[in-house]
Amino acid sequence: MSENILIAIAWPYANAEIHVGNITGSHLPGDIVARYHRLKGNNVLMVSGTDSHGTPVTIRADQEGKPVEEVYKRFHESFLEVFKGYGITYDLFTTTHTENHFKVSQDMFLALQKNGFMFTAKSMQWYSPSTNKFLPDRYVEGTCYICGYEGARSDQCDNCGNVLEPEKLINPRSKTGGALELRETEHFYLDLSKLEPDVKKFLEERMPHMRDTVIGESLRKIESEGLKPRSVTRDLDWGIPVPVAGWTEAGKRIYVWFEAVIGYLSAPIEWSQLSAEKDAWREWWVNPKAKQFHFIGKDNIFFHTSLWPAELMGVGCQFLEIFANDEQPLTLPYDVPANQFMNLEGQKISGSRSWAVWGLDALTRYDPDALRYYLTVNMPEMKDSDWDWKEFVARNNNELVATWGNLANRVLSFCYKNWDGYVPNVDLNSLRDADKELLKTIENGFNTVGAELEAVRLRSALGEAMKLATAVNVYLDVNAPWSAIKTDKDGASKTVYTALKAIDSLKVMFAPFLPFTCEKLHGFFGYETPLFGEQYTEDVTDSLGTHKVLRYKPVLSGVEGQWQPSNLKPGAKLNQPGPLFKKLEESIVEEERERLRDGNETSKH
Ligand code: MF3
Ligand code: ZN
Repeated sequence: MSENILIAIAWPYANAEIHVGNITGSHLPGDIVARYHRLKGNNVLMVSGTDSHGTPVTIRADQEGKPVEEVYKRFHESFLEVFKGYGITYDLFTTTHTENHFKVSQDMFLALQKNGFMFTAKSMQWYSPSTNKFLPDRYVEGTCYICGYEGARSDQCDNCGNVLEPEKLINPRSKTGGALELRETEHFYLDLSKLEPDVKKFLEERMPHMRDTVIGESLRKIESEGLKPRSVTRDLDWGIPVPVAGWTEAGKRIYVWFEAVIGYLSAPIEWSQLSAEKDAWREWWVNPKAKQFHFIGKDNIFFHTSLWPAELMGVGCQFLEIFANDEQPLTLPYDVPANQFMNLEGQKISGSRSWAVWGLDALTRYDPDALRYYLTVNMPEMKDSDWDWKEFVARNNNELVATWGNLANRVLSFCYKNWDGYVPNVDLNSLRDADKELLKTIENGFNTVGAELEAVRLRSALGEAMKLATAVNVYLDVNAPWSAIKTDKDGASKTVYTALKAIDSLKVMFAPFLPFTCEKLHGFFGYETPLFGEQYTEDVTDSLGTHKVLRYKPVLSGVEGQWQPSNLKPGAKLNQPGPLFKKLEESIVEEERERLRDGNETSKH
């Protein structure tokens, strides 16, 4: 029976371009898992969008001296390019700046208020007397009063992960310059303490299948400190209006984190509207059997394991008009496979220091599958990893090209040439033990690789598939059809048929990781239906204006259950094969390191 799988990926802030660390952190793992489930024939919905609000975005606009709307749209549109280029197949990649997202967020805000989980309170906030503005969150930086880190933000310390009280920050300074003073302000708070028992129970239930780096950290934190109320409004003029009389007029907006996570619900609703199946989102959201995966970076853990489930549990049923008759509460996350960080040549990736490999720039020199391969074998699943150009070249040449690419190319070309473009027409009953044994080993791969993919152990899943490619290479070394063809064409036919069938199966196992080249290979085998659907962009207009979205058109329904051993027919027609990957020159290591040093130098001036 097919399952409903929601792949929900962290919404990137519209304040910086996407780099390889962001891709390997969340977008790529999400895409791999989504493609796997589509191949299995499951009902997949993969969503995310641009996080267009909050101080990260307004500060960027202030620095550029441009309207926020223009800045967020520029980044948003470049994100669409990156995801298309890397084949990150969002069913919908939208933005938080839409009428639909505003409405769903405000409805949730009001439902939480109605259900008694909100209160208002006064607090002290940093204020800029020269510009007559409050300076929330990232507008003020200083030294953390808990761990001593000097780059802490007034709301939160990225070093120790604690939420901070702005007025306690040591040596506060404004990001935009000018003097600071403390002034009293009033905000709404979400009373997380009331929801603590529910959040704890939710986490305990997921303990057996979630990464310890995620669940362990979340539970330990709740056990040691408890969940405290969090303010969910800000003194800002950009963002979603607070749906309570007088608040927006007083210059307040909903806090970006309160609403960005709601995108996981609002995007499926937008997707349903665009697909003209108004209620389709419910299959992933009002369905206790649906499985939701949240792909995020480690800095987002609290928001996804505590704040977001608390918001969902706090609203209960019947909070939206479209819910009218529901008894069933909203579905809670099933797994939150947060990744650690990827560094670059031994140092933290940093946009401001130009120490980064940018997503779009890398695509101008390398193929997307070469990048996807390296980003997967090096994915920071359990600990931080490092992008190293020398290793990039080595992994590409020694594994992707030598073990897998050459295998496919060598066997297909040999067959195409010597069997006139057809799969050898062997009698399947005449296959030898060694042939059957290899095919059995490959067949088992669908279980082993599949199990790793289900558990989101993607490095291991790819490693298992690569081991199987090695097994096919060993089989070919032993049976050497290249020489056998001269003396025993019948034996060579059996070897080539067996190897082709193994490669055809491996193509499916590699497909979630290497979709572009596997699709190409799929074509060489002569199949008419593609493995995957297509990505396209579209303009959507609502009362807030027009926003571009990225979408995915699946291949015709019913033909996607391809996660199974090849059924390659003897005598089938092949298409002219060609190489799948490129060997990289050693010289690029120095070129790329030079490029990094140059960028880093220029950024200092
Ligand atoms: N914009 C946040 C960040 O880049 C992530 C938000 S995830 C969301 O850290 F789901 F809440 F949007
Ligand atoms: Zn700290």
